[in-house]
Amino acid sequence: MAVERTLSIIKPDATRRNLTGKINAKFEDGGLRIVAQKRVQLSKAQAEQFYGVHRERPFFGDLVSFMISGPVVLQVLEGENAIARNREIMGATNPANAAEGTIRKEFAESIEANSVHGSDAAETAAQEIAFFFAGTELVG
Ligand code: TYD
Repeated sequence: MAVERTLSIIKPDATRRNLTGKINAKFEDGGLRIVAQKRVQLSKAQAEQFYGVHRERPFFGDLVSFMISGPVVLQVLEGENAIARNREIMGATNPANAAEGTIRKEFAESIEANSVHGSDAAETAAQEIAFFFAGTELVG
């Protein structure tokens, strides 16, 4: 195992319900360290580019609208095996399938409004971190 960094987003359904602190506690209790964090309103262009891999999927338009429906918290999480560890802490995409104790089980409203994003692999983590953060914003 190695120390990794992963891109996390606390999504608009969660910021709207004031859940940032409760979600951050899940990351910290799960062994991850928040080494960068900023609350922003994404533009439509940013959301479309960020989720570009899903452009042809039927849910793409609704997903982009949801992601710009309110502020998000962009984060870089660091720790041992952070990419996979974060996905364990998040739980399955569809909260109906998420394990007990995961963020999505406890907080997600639906498969779309599922409270958090986390990078799925080393290459996407590097791309996603660079998409939102300058190197100088990451303080380990
Ligand atoms: P995906 O990359 O499959 O999941 P994850 O976020 O767990 O890596 O999908 C990206 C997001 O797209 C997902 O978090 C919510 C949204 N989405 C839908 O709205 N409907 C769907 O049927 C799927 C598969 C995803």
